[in-house]
Order: sequence, then structure tokens, then C-alpha cells
Amino acid sequence: MIRLENISKRYVMGDVQVAALDGVSLEVDKGEFVVVLGPSGSGKTTLLNIIGALDVPTEGHVQINGGNMTLTNKVNRFKFRRETVSFIFQTFNLFPSLTALENVQFVLDMQPADKTKKEKRNGQANRARAIEVLTDVGLGERVNHFPHELSGGEQQRVAIARALATGNPVLLADEPTGELDFRTGIQILELLKRQAEAGKTVLVVTHNREISRIADRVIELSSGKIVSDGAPRGGKAEIADLQW
Ligand SMILES: Nc1ncnc2c1ncn2[C@@H]1O[C@H](COP(=O)(O)OP(=O)(O)O)[C@@H](O)[C@H]1O
Ligand SMILES: [Mg+2]
Repeated sequence: MIRLENISKRYVMGDVQVAALDGVSLEVDKGEFVVVLGPSGSGKTTLLNIIGALDVPTEGHVQINGGNMTLTNKVNRFKFRRETVSFIFQTFNLFPSLTALENVQFVLDMQPADKTKKEKRNGQANRARAIEVLTDVGLGERVNHFPHELSGGEQQRVAIARALATGNPVLLADEPTGELDFRTGIQILELLKRQAEAGKTVLVVTHNREISRIADRVIELSSGKIVSDGAPRGGKAEIADLQW
């Protein structure tokens, strides 16, 4: 589903060059649940943004779902993001003036006409789909609440519902539990893990080694390079056994 070949990303800051990523190659299969682990500044967000076509590498090739992202233009990258990847962020990034339902329905209304032709004719279908995914993440009773009326964990659930609503096959989560308390964070991880079990390809970025233990596979970054890729160091842990 995801193939990166020798990716480098350099930022030029005056006279100084920062190598955010330096020769990163990796492959992720459909349905994998992968944690990308590394300290602050190690290149995790840069990596996720390149996979999600929010950013382009300085060197190397990116293939997602068969499409070569490095070669395509801005419009193609926009289409790719709309149809292939969904992002979940640390700070949820919900529209404060839209309800939970409207935040989710918004991305469905943005889908291209050919993909959701029927729904375009019948906005009720997008609304029904939004309610369905919000119910799936446990927010069926909260659909008409605004973000400020929801807890952090509930806001992150809205963001996950929004990511799931379109049916895009790749979920990219950048420190999704960073703003949440331990218990809420675990619930969010469980929810993300279940998406991989249901066939999505899920990448979760964290700087927290304890969190990384819930994955079958941990890709560890240090100074823009992959330093390990495999089973979590210290052994795999059940979500219920995590402490952080
Ligand atoms: N837009 C940018 N301009 C300049 N340097 C950047 C930019 N984005 C990231 N960097 C640098 O690249 C490195 C990796 O950053 P980032 O991918 O955000 O790491 P992480 O998410 O692991 O904290 C850091 O040294 C950071 O300062
Ligand atoms: Mg980051």
C-alpha cells in the first residue's frame, strides 16, 4: 500500500540545511498497524506528511496505492489526498463553528461528484453516513454538539469519524493521543487499531515508546533515519497493559 524509496527531505534555513529525512525506505502492506516512533525533531511529521502528499520529498520516490506521488502535480496530489489518505492530528483540527455531525458531513460533501453522485443529489445520504460513522466511534448521542461542548477524547473521536467517513484506505495519525489523558488515549488507540483490523492501513506517529508497544511493527526514527523496524522493543503489550 505504501512504498518509500530512498526519501530525503532537506529544508534550507539561511545558510543552514536541515535534513529532516535522510535516505528513508520502507514498505507498509494493506491492513498493517504501524507505529512510527522517535524523539521530537526526528522527522516523524515530515515522514507522515510526505506519505500523505501534504509535502514532497527533496529526493526519492513515493508510491501509495499504486500511484507515484513524486511525479504527479499539485492537482493530482489533492485528488490523491481526497480519495486515499485521511489525517488525524494531535489537536483534532475540527471546525469550531460546526457541530460534530457537520464536521464529518463536510468531508463527504467535498467528495467528487462522480464518486458520490447519488449523495450529491440527496444530501440526506451524506448526513446519514456521517451519523453512522459517529455512532460507530461511540458518539451517536453527541452528533449535534459543537467541539467546545465535547471532551478531548470525544473531539478526537469526531476527527476519527471524519477520517473514516470517506472510506479512504490509509489513515495517518500524528501524535493522536498527545493531548489526551492516559485512559482516553488508550481508547483512541484501540479505536485506531480496530480500523487496521477492519482492513485500513494505519500509521500512528508518537514519541512515546510505551504507546509503540501496542503495534506489531514499530519503525523507529532518529535524526531523519530509520534505526529499527520490527517488533516493539521490550515486547508487544496489550493496550490494557500500557502505562504512560
Ligand atoms: N518547514 C520546515 N522548515 C524548516 N525545518 C523544518 C520544517 N519542518 C520540519 N523542520 C525540521 O525538520 C526536522 C524534523 O521535523 P519533524 O518532522 O517535525 O519532526 P518530529 O515530528 O519528529 O518532531 C526538525 O529538525 C525540524 O526543525
Ligand atoms: Mg511531529
